[in-house]
Amino acid sequence: MKKSKQAYIDEAEHALLHTYNRFPIVLDHGEGVYLYDLDGKKYLDFAAGIAVFALGYHYPGYDEAVKNQVDKLIHTSNLFYSVPVAEAAEKLKKASGMDRVFFTNSGTEAIEGAIKSARKYAWLKDGKHDHEIIAMKHSFHGRSMGALSVTGNEHYQEPFKPMIGGVKFAEYNDLDSVRALVNEKTCAIILETLQGEGGVYVAEEAFIKGLRQLCDENDILLICDEIQCGMGRTGSMFCYQNYNICPDIVTVAKALGCGVPIGAFLCTEKAASLTPGDHGTTYGGNPLVCAAASKVLDIFEQDHIVEHVQEVGTYLYEELEKLTAETDKIVAHRGMGLIQGIELNEAPGTVIQKAQEKGLIVISAGNNVIRFVPPLIIQKEHVDKMIAILKQCIE
Ligand SMILES: Cc1ncc(COP(=O)(O)O)c(C=O)c1O
Repeated sequence: MKKSKQAYIDEAEHALLHTYNRFPIVLDHGEGVYLYDLDGKKYLDFAAGIAVFALGYHYPGYDEAVKNQVDKLIHTSNLFYSVPVAEAAEKLKKASGMDRVFFTNSGTEAIEGAIKSARKYAWLKDGKHDHEIIAMKHSFHGRSMGALSVTGNEHYQEPFKPMIGGVKFAEYNDLDSVRALVNEKTCAIILETLQGEGGVYVAEEAFIKGLRQLCDENDILLICDEIQCGMGRTGSMFCYQNYNICPDIVTVAKALGCGVPIGAFLCTEKAASLTPGDHGTTYGGNPLVCAAASKVLDIFEQDHIVEHVQEVGTYLYEELEKLTAETDKIVAHRGMGLIQGIELNEAPGTVIQKAQEKGLIVISAGNNVIRFVPPLIIQKEHVDKMIAILKQCIE
């Protein structure tokens, strides 16, 4: 017999480690850009599982690709080759312009690989163990120890110190603050090409181009974390492509698998410092998740997902600008493509909860920011619907 929603919540709270304050909703299934809870209540989804479900729920062809691979072979270990892995890697190379791919299970593991690649790159040059990484304040790169160490949020780090050594923090969009930290030990500069968790901050062109130049002048590797802003979300396949620069290392996850756990770090031939024995993963990029990623990359190309983001992202931007102008409760509006945020003059918890009651899912970021990271397939009518609900909740 089906239990009540509250019974499942109680059961979960009893069994799970309490690391999340979850919303009191038990989700059951999804369709398109809508989610449904256990009681059949429908929600317009402007969170997409935190920027994961780029193609929404049950996009034509996606489920079949995953199911077909389940029937064939789910896992091989990385000791063997398989068709889905080779295909996904080749498509990711093409989409990103990078030369080499290492598949992981998550975003945080992609960051670990990027850090190891940078450290080894520098070690190969001078054999020293004192290399430094410059990261950004208010950044987010994940929860494992290496990724946490380059995350510019003291609150997340404090109980787990010491962090890995040699990480310094600069101000995002302040090239001089980065330049001031560069010395002969610096092996990498890591940043989110667009800061997501920190409150949706877009990088200025002069900043990104300046970082590329700074790295070139000093033989430092530029690592762009595209785990949240990559895979079409900003209106380019990868956000760095908006700036016409090429990083040395790129991290991807979230929308790469559109729901199955896969991430990757990609690098240029120059930054491909890792060799057999340096790094590994049992599950990472197994045939199942690579079949999903491979299909996702096909769909992006065939169905012009990026072009769609440009169109509907511009519309979302215009509508949020209008809303911002209408009320003093919104103090700022930022973002690009389908990653945007509005900053309120108070904590966004009440608005988020009211929105849920009215059938809209949005999430927060940074201080007082409501973040919009919907499936990339939303239409203008969904934007209108979202804005109408949001307006009522803010008023
Ligand atoms: C920019 C960025 N990097 C890294 C991560 C960590 O990814 P994961 O949660 O898959 O470990 C996230 C997750 O939100 C992220 O937004």
